[in-house]
Amino acid sequence: MRIITNIISMRFHYYFLIIITLLSLQFFKTALSENLNLYSARQEVLMRDLINSFEKKTNIKVNIISAKANQLVERIELEGKYTRADILLTVDVARLIDAKKKNLFKAVESNILHENVPREYRDKDKKWFGLSLRSRVFVYHQDRVSQNELKGYLSLMHKNWKSRILVRSSNNVYNQSLVSAMISNYGKDTTKKFLTSFRKNFARDPSGGDRDQIRAVISGEGDLALVNSYYYLKMKKNDKSNKLKDLRLHFPSDDKMKTHMNISGAGIIKYSKNYDNALKFLEFLVTTEAQKIYADINLEYPIIDNLELSQFMSNYIDFERDNLNLNTIANFNKEALLLMGETGWQ
Ligand SMILES: [Fe+2]
Repeated sequence: MRIITNIISMRFHYYFLIIITLLSLQFFKTALSENLNLYSARQEVLMRDLINSFEKKTNIKVNIISAKANQLVERIELEGKYTRADILLTVDVARLIDAKKKNLFKAVESNILHENVPREYRDKDKKWFGLSLRSRVFVYHQDRVSQNELKGYLSLMHKNWKSRILVRSSNNVYNQSLVSAMISNYGKDTTKKFLTSFRKNFARDPSGGDRDQIRAVISGEGDLALVNSYYYLKMKKNDKSNKLKDLRLHFPSDDKMKTHMNISGAGIIKYSKNYDNALKFLEFLVTTEAQKIYADINLEYPIIDNLELSQFMSNYIDFERDNLNLNTIANFNKEALLLMGETGWQ
């Protein structure tokens, strides 16, 4: 009886070993076939169609690691030359500028990126490239705001706007970049004056994200929200119960500054172990096919010229873009933060 039990136990160990060996082989196989590691501060759902299409075309497997931009930057910094990151993909030029300052990127020589991404939306030292565009716009209630109140960003300092404006916190990078762009266009003194008065016009203390500001216009807490274009476009496109029927979009513009444009973008990591694949991926993201996905699914504006847009998006492209070179934002970022703090924008 004891002999039989021993044989069964040995057999069990034998099978157990085989299973462990097979699982390890599978693990190494998967690890080896991970041909591109994308550290992404964008939600996977926004990148999924782009990745699927790239994988199908190239047979390069994209492994996506998603987290907040500052967490990814910190992680890549900590990992140093041992990092597995090949690309850092994020939104807002200020975050790309920060990653560049921390020396995370390497310069990329690519005619495709150079020709497809306009100069104002790529790094002058070839370390980051814009991949899609968004504008920072006014969303307002058509019955509570008159047409002659709708001008450029500076007009929001007028006392007519008292307790009517909704905007998120100054901690947010979208606001920081907008203020940097304002300093560049209007100068420091005018921007400071603007911020002092603008702050007094808030309908409430800043809270929530851009979508929450739009919701607060619907609920009547304020009359106008300062938000990124795609938030409004997404809510509008999916507005089955017609909640946004009285809301309209205004593209701010005056003689000194047109509508602020910002980017989502990416750079290749200095210690990338899959440089060629990383370059292929970035070059894929500026193709007509990928740009169409950015526009149709993410409702962002294409970075390339002459892309045919959907009927829906075509309703929102007729505006004057501010042509500020986004490299300039780096010069005013610190000043913008200081001014926002000084003038009490929480
Ligand atoms: Fe966003």
